[in-house]
Amino acid sequence: MDNLINYFLRKDPSESFQEWYADAKKVEQNPEAMTLSTMDQKHNRPDSRTVLFKGMKDNYLTFYTNYNSTKAKELDSNSEACLLFYWHISKRQVRIQGKVKKMSTADSDIYFTVRDRQSQLASYISEQSSPIADKDTLMKKLSDADRKFQGSEVPRPENWGGILFEPYEFEFFVYGDYRINDRFLYKKSHNDWIITRLQP
Ligand SMILES: Cc1cc2nc3c(=O)[nH]c(=O)nc-3n(C[C@H](O)[C@H](O)[C@H](O)COP(=O)(O)O)c2cc1C
Repeated sequence: MDNLINYFLRKDPSESFQEWYADAKKVEQNPEAMTLSTMDQKHNRPDSRTVLFKGMKDNYLTFYTNYNSTKAKELDSNSEACLLFYWHISKRQVRIQGKVKKMSTADSDIYFTVRDRQSQLASYISEQSSPIADKDTLMKKLSDADRKFQGSEVPRPENWGGILFEPYEFEFFVYGDYRINDRFLYKKSHNDWIITRLQP
């Protein structure tokens, strides 16, 4: 196929993704920020927000969140999702379609324990995506939890943990001069990946 496949893309898109991510980490300010899109089934409309990529686990991309949040509820009712990385300085974009499931509690525990205490407390007190009267109420919840766990570990809330995203489609995009962009689509077919070059 196209010689670009040999020089910057692999047969396995997860390998290419990890190489691109390593490149992005050298130059980008927030390489780990990715847009997660889900389907809001209730209103039959798409929904997006930023989450932080926390690395690959086997062939899954991982991130962490509150399992009662809007995104988690949307993923409970439709496990199909889309992740989008945009790396401005690198002039690259990666769009990834896949299906999600929850990480094991043991693996969520491992990550929770390495987070700094403030982040642990924030996860402990936040009923993410639920309304709250004002900031003071939020800060009081935080200081109460801080006091409660003085001298002890903050426990991982049951409703907070990792999400495993299993990709079945990747599109790698490189911004080109005069909009002559390079785009490569990988579609999973059984255990193989079919690669197609797309027009800009
Ligand atoms: C740079 C950045 C990183 C974020 N990382 C996460 C994250 O890793 N996990 C998370 O649950 N929310 C993260 N958020 C907050 C989400 O964008 C979002 O506001 C929140 O998760 C609630 O979304 P939801 O109501 O759709 O569930 C991040 C926001 C920004 C701006």
